[in-house]
Amino acid sequence: MGQSLVDVNNQISPAASTNDQIEKLEATIKALQHDNAKLQQQLEDSTLELQATVDEFLRSDNERKRLVNDIDEYIRVDLERQRLIKELQAAKRLAEENSRLKSEFLSTMSHELRTPMNAIEGFTSIMLSRMGGVEFNEKTERYITRVNINSKRLLQLINDFLDLSRVESGRLELAYQPFSPVDLAKRWQTEISILAEKKNIDFELILDPHLPETVYGDEEAISKVAINLLGNAIKFTEQGKVSLALSNGGENWQISVTDTGIGIPPHAREYVFEEFRQVDQTSKRKYGGTGLGLAIVHKYTRTMGGTVTLQSEVNIGSTFTVTLPIQTKHESVESKQ
Ligand SMILES: Nc1ncnc2c1ncn2[C@@H]1O[C@H](COP(=O)(O)OP(=O)(O)O)[C@@H](O)[C@H]1O
Ligand SMILES: [Mg+2]
Repeated sequence: MGQSLVDVNNQISPAASTNDQIEKLEATIKALQHDNAKLQQQLEDSTLELQATVDEFLRSDNERKRLVNDIDEYIRVDLERQRLIKELQAAKRLAEENSRLKSEFLSTMSHELRTPMNAIEGFTSIMLSRMGGVEFNEKTERYITRVNINSKRLLQLINDFLDLSRVESGRLELAYQPFSPVDLAKRWQTEISILAEKKNIDFELILDPHLPETVYGDEEAISKVAINLLGNAIKFTEQGKVSLALSNGGENWQISVTDTGIGIPPHAREYVFEEFRQVDQTSKRKYGGTGLGLAIVHKYTRTMGGTVTLQSEVNIGSTFTVTLPIQTKHESVESKQ
């Protein structure tokens, strides 16, 4: 900047004319003005630059503060999350322990209740059959009949409880054995056709000729599923037919139970598989039961690696289909409860 300034003393000689001096002075002034404008411009530029630097500094300082805040917030959220996880884990452990205790309690109670209940049911049945020459009047017979019916009902409830608590507590150990599905279906037929006859309902057994002769599985668990479905089919059918069909689906086999009964409305088709759930209260009043049967069907089927589906139309009938994997050799099925 300094070198462009005009040195006034060196530029003006004493010999020069007044005009010359004026011209030179004017030129000097112009030069000075030019330099001044340049300096002014440089000053403005520097000020702007400085302002930009200050702005940039402030911006990055704000950014830094924001980042620090973000990190603080992140740490806070993370700590909160860890606390929540710990709380949830503790609640889960408690719930698992409670569920185990509940199952244990139910199972112990049910076993304890079953023995005296069996005695009550057994002896009242004997009395009603007049075995051993027991004699009683009509009124007493009515009372004994009621005791007998109610003890049967309680026994059914206790047995359902036991079945359910066994599968819920993971104590259901499947005993895989080879068996003939056809023979098993015939045994169910014998058991169920007695109930069908009592209600004057036809019973039909449909066997797929391509069924494997032998499959591996737990006959008792499969029977529990089938008998529950067949029992329901008879119970909820006033007239017509109940059919049991066994078919081969390649990698699996199917047990279908079809009835011409009251049907299940669409809104109830999922919840009827839950414990203690019935379509509605009128069902309980009219047909009795506790709503545990389909929960047993569902849980046992899943434990065996199968599925259960339901098709139904109100006042036309229902079909429950259980699909189980065909196991021709002993392989364990992972519990999918
Ligand atoms: N075959 C069926 N036809 C019509 N309704 C059925 C049938 N099977 C089950 N249901 C309905 O599903 C409910 C639940 O069945 P379930 O768990 O076996 O209980 P429960 O037989 O003790 O009532 C029944 O109360 C009934 O309302
Ligand atoms: Mg039932």
